[in-house]
Amino acid sequence: MKPPRSHGRQSVRATLKPRELMQDVPDYADVWQARIITLFPELFPGVLGASLTGKALNDGLWQLHTHDLRAHGIGKHRNVDDTPAGGGAGMVLRADVVGPAIEEAQSHARGRWPILYMSPRGRPFTQSMARDLATCTGVTMLCGRFEGVDERVLAHYNVTEVSLGDFVMTGGELAAQAMIDATVRLLPGVLGNAESTVEESHSSGLLEHPQYTRPATWEGHDIPSVLMSGNHGEIAKWRQAQAQELTQTRRPDLWARYKKP
Ligand SMILES: C[S@@+](CC[C@H](N)C(=O)[O-])C[C@H]1O[C@@H](n2cnc3c(N)ncnc32)[C@H](O)[C@@H]1O
Repeated sequence: MKPPRSHGRQSVRATLKPRELMQDVPDYADVWQARIITLFPELFPGVLGASLTGKALNDGLWQLHTHDLRAHGIGKHRNVDDTPAGGGAGMVLRADVVGPAIEEAQSHARGRWPILYMSPRGRPFTQSMARDLATCTGVTMLCGRFEGVDERVLAHYNVTEVSLGDFVMTGGELAAQAMIDATVRLLPGVLGNAESTVEESHSSGLLEHPQYTRPATWEGHDIPSVLMSGNHGEIAKWRQAQAQELTQTRRPDLWARYKKP
């Protein structure tokens, strides 16, 4: 069977051995870096090793390093957590374990390089935060587990709490990968088509217009005729109107912000 054809945006296959992309790589001063503090370094690069982010990692357009929290654990058993002061359920990651891991990650930091803690209490991550992060030289991301992290370490290192959304996951690794994915695709040279980030959802405050591709008719449904007309002015008008209508009906919050003078 012939492989399916790709229309429009670039199609890239998953990297075969993604973890190798993170090992024994020297630090390049002008390359955007993510340093991840986690109890599960084997979860990286995860989805970031595939497709465009994986290819960009392979091509040295960005770098990824993990810092294993367990390596900073206390005693023979390398304990990383303890019971919450004041009582209550669960365990808390210790400040004297997380602190040295942050120090280790930050010893590689240069320029504008925030420390983010993946946290459901944080400010919800947005496209504008991804845009800002892409202009930094790098980022350190702390992935929590259990009930979270001793508050003193967050205050001491001026850590910013960022959330993937109003729900609770078991750890911060998925959030870190989502935020890095959104950021890396904005780095110069990562996307094949430079216009892809200009017209998409959340770039201009609107959701993106509907997309269609071949075949022209599928199960009796036609592609809207304006898109087949070749009239680029009319196509642009139609797309703008669709984007506005979608945003108004699906996301009144975004629409109100867009309409604000
Ligand atoms: C079970 S959660 C801890 C939740 C914490 N006790 C609370 O109520 O805010 C464990 C870890 O998962 C990560 N996490 C969970 N939900 C998240 C979200 N929505 N965004 C980012 N990180 C999240 C955080 O790193 C957190 O420390």
